Amino acid sequence: MDASTTLFVAVSAIIFLAVALKQLLSGLTLTPQLKNERAAARLPPGSTGLPLLGDMLRLISAYRLPNPDLFIHERIVARHGAMSTTHLLGERAVFSADPSFNRLVLSGDGRVVDTSYPSSVATLLGARSVLVTRGPAHKGLHALALARLGYPALPPLVARVDRLVLAAVAQWEPAGAAVRLVDEARKIAMSVNVHLLGIEPGPWSESLRREFNAISDGFVSLPFPLASLLPFTTYGKALKARKNVALALQEVVRKRMDEKAMDAGADGETAAGKKGKKDMVDLLLEADGGSFSMEQMVDFCVNLLAAGYDTTSLTMTLAVKFLTETPTALAQLREEHDSIRKGKGENQSLEWSDYQSMAFTQCVINETLRVGNIVNGVLRRANTDIHFKDYIIPKGYKIFASFGAVHLSSEHYENARTFHPWRWQSKNSKVQDVPASNLFTPFGGGPRQCPGNELARVVVSVFLHHLVTRFSWDEAEEDKVVFFPTTRTLKGYPINVRLRSGSIS
Ligand code: HEM
Ligand SMILES: *[C@@H]1O[C@H](CO)[C@@H](O)[C@H](O)[C@H]1NC(C)=O
Ligand SMILES: *[C@@H]1O[C@H](CO)[C@@H](O)[C@H](O)[C@H]1NC(C)=O
Repeated sequence: MDASTTLFVAVSAIIFLAVALKQLLSGLTLTPQLKNERAAARLPPGSTGLPLLGDMLRLISAYRLPNPDLFIHERIVARHGAMSTTHLLGERAVFSADPSFNRLVLSGDGRVVDTSYPSSVATLLGARSVLVTRGPAHKGLHALALARLGYPALPPLVARVDRLVLAAVAQWEPAGAAVRLVDEARKIAMSVNVHLLGIEPGPWSESLRREFNAISDGFVSLPFPLASLLPFTTYGKALKARKNVALALQEVVRKRMDEKAMDAGADGETAAGKKGKKDMVDLLLEADGGSFSMEQMVDFCVNLLAAGYDTTSLTMTLAVKFLTETPTALAQLREEHDSIRKGKGENQSLEWSDYQSMAFTQCVINETLRVGNIVNGVLRRANTDIHFKDYIIPKGYKIFASFGAVHLSSEHYENARTFHPWRWQSKNSKVQDVPASNLFTPFGGGPRQCPGNELARVVVSVFLHHLVTRFSWDEAEEDKVVFFPTTRTLKGYPINVRLRSGSIS
């Protein structure tokens, strides 16, 4: 999400400025205070003093390498074990690479912990957005998201996604094209997202997309104290883009309100009733007996659009990159999709039953999410002293539950850094032995588990279907995956696509 993609690394990018400022101005009292607390003796091991600039630089350079676990394992886990104490954004924090602690953190949301993203993220998403809202209000917003996203099997969702993906890849035909895959994937992700709001993709969604690109950059920028006042900084630009997006979305909501008023006047039937299915805007207008403010509705939509944008598009891009580098996996995937295609008419859309028959595709997607760690982990704050194993995590501490550290740990996955989709197939693999929820949490878990989980899988699956059945491709330039400040490929994965010879299309 957005906020998602950013987390640990993004956040760590900001650490040192925030730390420096906060501790220089006021925080120096923290350390003596802690020494007096007996609990300090039972904190997870780690640095309790001032973080060193050197650590920060080592962290940055580690994340620039293709193997992100260099830092996590060699510097944190090897030194302190799966749980350690550190600083995050100038605050005391616990870093967890322990799957059962992560589980506790995810399932204990709203009780032992609460969401705690940096204010720069909250400002960009909106103060009333799902990701930063706590308590009963969060429950309501989460349920609202699920009301639209939670039933991917209901027609016409898969068929609609199919049409949206086809419209995007049709641009490459018939001569083939040189594309930056991440841009194409982002077009698809945004067209699916605006579809959730009842809008057809077109010039409107493309201009919205440009604003979201700026917002995404803002999540991972350094929000130094004056950045929000300086329009030429990355963060300043992101704030401006946020404003533009909010205005555009307000317009959408207003128009819908007018339509509803007119329809009700005409024949008592609402536009949503006529369309047969309610989109997200309809649901928002009816939420809580129609009592949502414009700000609430807009923040909800910004969060939804941001959450499904970089995440889904990066998953598509990385899947293709990993497959390209693993030809046997690509061949097996193609076989699966060719056989699905053979069973359907030339122009016939995929449906839920087709999606369900894509067994190997699901292995590819899981493996992409595991190796790619689209969302590196989640940020929380302890509401109470948390007792875990021999440790006490004091009330008020930030907690970073790292998924990447678990997903790429050789303790939990054999050849952890290798893209090996078949590991999801074998019944006796370690992955299947242990409750998957502990060792594999690309979508988080508990009360905040990603409501777009299944939709994202559908979009990636349908995309892969049309890509491998219609096209073949080569890398146009060598590119590589980096994990700092967020997971991405350095060049956006430029490839040359052309129609497959003997293509079915
Ligand atoms: C591969 C794609 C995706 C990944 C890896 C992903 C991952 C995540 C994760 C880890 C969280 C939990 C954050 C936390 O607990 O603090 C989350 C939350 C969320 N995601 Fe996704 N997501 C993806 C796609 C989507 C899509 C397509 C949508 C909607 C269109 C979406 C909407 C949301 C929303 C609204 C939340 C906030 C839920 C809450 O706080 O209650 N995500 N996502
Ligand atoms: C399939 O769709 C394309 C584009 O929409 C159209 O040109 C073509 O005639 C269709 N083919 C069949 C068999 O319906
Ligand atoms: C992929 O991961 C999900 C958990 O996110 C799991 O439920 C599913 O069984 C996995 N798929 C395969 C093919 O192992």
